[in-house]
Amino acid sequence: MHDKILILDFGAQYTQLIARRVREAKVYCEIHPCDVSDAFVRDFASDGKLRGVILSGSHLSAYQEATLQAPKVVFELGVPVLGICYGMQTMAQQLGGKVEAGKLREFGYAEVRARGHTRLLEGIEDFRTPAGHGMLKVWMSHGDKVVDLPPGFKLMASTEACPIAGMADEARRYYAVQFHPEVTHTPQGSKLLQRFVRDICGCRGDWRMPDYVSEVIQKIQAQVGEDEVILGLSGGVDSSVAAALIHQAIGRQLTCVFVDHGLLRLNEAQQVMDTFAKHLQVKVVHVDASAEMFAALKGVTDPEQKRKIIGKLFVDVFQKESKKIANARWLAQGTIYPDVIESAGGKTKKAATIKSHHNVGGLPASLHLKLLEPLRELFKDEVRELGLALGLPREMVFRHPFPGPGLGVRVLGEVKQEYVQLLQRADDIFVNELRNSAWYDKTAQAFAVFLPVKSVGVMGDGRTYEHVVALRAVETSDFMTAAWAPLPYELLAKVASRIINEVRGINRVTYDISSKPPATIEWE
Ligand code: XMP
Repeated sequence: MHDKILILDFGAQYTQLIARRVREAKVYCEIHPCDVSDAFVRDFASDGKLRGVILSGSHLSAYQEATLQAPKVVFELGVPVLGICYGMQTMAQQLGGKVEAGKLREFGYAEVRARGHTRLLEGIEDFRTPAGHGMLKVWMSHGDKVVDLPPGFKLMASTEACPIAGMADEARRYYAVQFHPEVTHTPQGSKLLQRFVRDICGCRGDWRMPDYVSEVIQKIQAQVGEDEVILGLSGGVDSSVAAALIHQAIGRQLTCVFVDHGLLRLNEAQQVMDTFAKHLQVKVVHVDASAEMFAALKGVTDPEQKRKIIGKLFVDVFQKESKKIANARWLAQGTIYPDVIESAGGKTKKAATIKSHHNVGGLPASLHLKLLEPLRELFKDEVRELGLALGLPREMVFRHPFPGPGLGVRVLGEVKQEYVQLLQRADDIFVNELRNSAWYDKTAQAFAVFLPVKSVGVMGDGRTYEHVVALRAVETSDFMTAAWAPLPYELLAKVASRIINEVRGINRVTYDISSKPPATIEWE
């Protein structure tokens, strides 16, 4: 059992970053909506491992009426509490201070003066003023502010625009900051969060991947016993890491079903089989459903209809194969912590921003299988760390995300096998050149798109009339918004020239310079 921190989410876009920073300090934490009941919090603390609580920011105002508050019990548990931004305001208000609407919104870079020699900020500073005051460079984003400290609190930080930018009651170990220590624009932010969870809350720092591996392996063994497990392998990071992990725990009791829907990247099916079946000796059933898929997609041009057909056929094939594994009692999935947080929601979550992207989502009911989700507690970068620790190739573990419907949404309009084959080769050239130039890791997603139009060209002495490929490369951390990547012209020139010369059937290459929003990352 790990020491743990409870993060209450008031609906800020940065809440997951708080959790990331806490985990980087090697402390286990969980995010729950701020409107959980007192009973929930008491239950969460009942194992005696809860060491502290962090109250996140919010897009709401603590000053307005009908605002969200932390469950009362948070201030009755006797553990340290850290309020961040809105979290500071609600802490002030709930403990008898006062919050007012600010006349000016303070947004962006600010310099904060540390005051009061608190434990939280002791020795943490970016620079000193000539007068010897310790200063922090921080990221601010708020309109309201605390104007009266609650009883028992002292001033911990201030800026000109925000005289109470931090407050502390050191006897009760309550701290709060108006700025955002979780974002990278606050250079000392990680240190501050680490100070809170390790020194003030006293967490041991026992959240380490190698220990976690043996722990989770034991857990899987205990959970599954002698049962058989099925896992839908897609070649993506999450299902791959889940497969490697479960295989390490239960070996031949695991059967992976790899449905090749014919819309994968060049040689991807072979790579998946090589890695898992050959190299790791995992039992993998390889189902080639490509002929069925192309038949089902014949004549269909509408993107949503394409997605539905691809998803349904995938599920049908997977189900059929799964039923052949007679003794299976469990269905394993690569669900990761951000999926868990998003689907749990709470009234602070905007449901509209959430997409269901799971390749095998919606499967279990008719299969009557129990769910095994060993990555449920992990963030993406922890999953990657785990993948490397389990011996998966770096290239697989750091691969860009790939949509469930695969190249089906990257061949615009009707999906024909011949188009998919052209696209696979163009895409492979693009991705290889990105890897060679070190741009692959600088972009979050990069791929080619097949456009079902023909354009005129000239090659040698002859006129050509062939298809067009668009290149898409974006930078993003959350995939909700994305900027097109400023790839160097020389790189684009090389990719274009290689595609046109090497892929007969493509005579024109364009680069997509649309950002999201208003464009999406995928074209369909
Ligand atoms: P968009 O195109 O909405 O994509 O900007 C955002 C991210 O989601 C991926 N994506 C999907 N992933 N099934 C998936 O598994 C899907 O149907 C799907 N559609 C989009 C997309 O590749 C990008 O990473």
